[in-house]
Amino acid sequence: MSEAIRKSTAETYENKEVVLDVKDLRVYYETPKGDVLAVDGIHFKLYEGETLGLVGESGCGKSTAAMGILQLITPPGRIVTGEVWLDGSNLLAMSEEELRQRRWTKLALIPQGAMNSLNPTMRISQQIRDVIETHEGKKRGDDIKQRILELFKMVGLPGRIYDMYPHELSGGMKQRVCIAMAIALDPMVIIADESTSALDVVVQRVVAQTMLRVKEALGVSMIMIGHDMGLMAQMVDRIAVMYAGHIVEIAGVEELFYKPGHPYSQLLIESVPSLTERKPLKITEGITHDPRNPPPGCIFQLRCPFVMDECRRVKPPIVEIRPHQQVACHLFKQQEDGSIIDVRDIATNP
Ligand SMILES: Nc1ncnc2c1ncn2[C@@H]1O[C@H](COP(=O)(O)OP(=O)(O)O)[C@@H](O)[C@H]1O
Ligand SMILES: [Mg+2]
Repeated sequence: MSEAIRKSTAETYENKEVVLDVKDLRVYYETPKGDVLAVDGIHFKLYEGETLGLVGESGCGKSTAAMGILQLITPPGRIVTGEVWLDGSNLLAMSEEELRQRRWTKLALIPQGAMNSLNPTMRISQQIRDVIETHEGKKRGDDIKQRILELFKMVGLPGRIYDMYPHELSGGMKQRVCIAMAIALDPMVIIADESTSALDVVVQRVVAQTMLRVKEALGVSMIMIGHDMGLMAQMVDRIAVMYAGHIVEIAGVEELFYKPGHPYSQLLIESVPSLTERKPLKITEGITHDPRNPPPGCIFQLRCPFVMDECRRVKPPIVEIRPHQQVACHLFKQQEDGSIIDVRDIATNP
């Protein structure tokens, strides 16, 4: 794992303040055949200055979680339960107007596919100006131009794109425009949904580095959503692994990569290609159950190589198996003295 661009670790955040606290968020989509339980009770905290990765295969609910946090879910989706605490208030208990004041200024989302949703008929500078003026009112020409050029500089864009249109920019540049928009109002938290996906690998790295530079310069906290575990490992401090609407593990990058706890995390790590070691690629299927009718007990039971009887009946609670690592899996049992045992160790060493 390269340390080149990743500087901090999970430990760095131990004593930091919690900036975003998501509790029991549930978002369902209504369909004629029943509700799709896209996000089914997730909990996590984001610490000051931290970058948290949210990973998991396509369809596991990452984008829905991001939209839910910002209360941007539209029908047929609906937020069923949840609290999202940011700066002392619960976003999910707010009116549309209260939320409007906080989007971009406190919490900015770069939605999935944002770079392809830039308005093709508007100059880049005008689109950033709109974000600023929507919140701060009309600005004088020179001041705002200066401010936009500063934003360009921060994300490594040349001043000459000021008067350009989206189609004149490369994918990487457009993605950096989206980052510039996200930081325009100096938010506390940025959620970037697949911002480095759909770019070629070299550009991915440039965009990733831009994000980290921005993060360090502004001291903003970030949630980076993606499915590329290799890239994530280099960019984030902690990783939350999502499977079928649940967070099954949340751990520091080192912990997750070297000692993944949840069998699904193990599968994800094993599927990261390695240059030094030739290994057969693990075939990973998609989610195997009907998302409208998940089985009782553990959400991963149908794909789990270690499935036990208990997994089919009881939902596993999330337990801390070692510092900076929480896992929702029956393989890990908390003893009366608080210590954790892995039931596989007992089975093999009676
Ligand atoms: N508008 C919708 N109607 C019905 N189901 C939806 C809708 N949008 C998303 N879903 C379902 O919700 C689940 C989570 O989707 P999504 O949040 O986009 O996942 P991810 O971002 O991890 O790929 C998927 O099963 C998807 O099919
Ligand atoms: Mg998505």
